[in-house]
Amino acid sequence: MFSRGKSGTTELFPFADMHCHVLPGVDDGSQSMEMSLKMLKIAASENISKMILTPHFVIGALEHSTAAFSARFEALTEAAKAEGIGIEFYLGNELFCSGGMEGRLKDGSVLTLAGSNCLLIEFFRSVSRTALRNAVLMVKSAGLTPVLAHVERYYELFNHPEAVPELKKLGALIQVNVSTILGSSGAAEKRFARNLLKAECVDFLATDAHNIDSRAPLVQRALRKLYKKYDRAYVRRISYENTCRLLMHQDVN
Ligand SMILES: [Fe+2]
Repeated sequence: MFSRGKSGTTELFPFADMHCHVLPGVDDGSQSMEMSLKMLKIAASENISKMILTPHFVIGALEHSTAAFSARFEALTEAAKAEGIGIEFYLGNELFCSGGMEGRLKDGSVLTLAGSNCLLIEFFRSVSRTALRNAVLMVKSAGLTPVLAHVERYYELFNHPEAVPELKKLGALIQVNVSTILGSSGAAEKRFARNLLKAECVDFLATDAHNIDSRAPLVQRALRKLYKKYDRAYVRRISYENTCRLLMHQDVN
């Protein structure tokens, strides 16, 4: 189940990352192939074995064709192979929810997670519960399962945490950033994420990695805390197994 670190004493927990910005030169994540490879080496040393690369897709502001994403993806996977990086790679997008979204879902210009029926979506921090509900329903009506990226960021949910299970009942899956668990986004987000974990409302943990320093793909320190504090089977599910299920196009839950 677990592998040993270089020292032979450190337990490394398995991790499969379904949200990161490692694809170079397409968003505010990695700016070059060189940086992407450094990020991947960090990820490999953190025992991350599978990664879905999810560049931002912002309608009318930050768009690339699926062909352009695919070409960069091929280049990165080749470069990683040449460097001996043994991570499995998949492609997706993180769609910023806004007007015009319905048409983009229909015309297939936004990539789902690894060709599954799951779509990673994000919002302004100030998004209302009504807007969250409407977006979930819209994505569902397009025949897709919405995965709410870094749900701990949305202010209204702090004050109305009961909205999270309600969104799940509507068919949404919930993702929390690993770094939030260590407090990188502040005490309020950390507390909220902890409550979601306690209630087992989280479906996926992900790095949302953007670079090699402030937002690097680090997971083991947070995982050590989580495995100590919460049900081990649940932690394994949200940090590894659910993403594996998604990659096999199986239902998560
Ligand atoms: Fe992201």
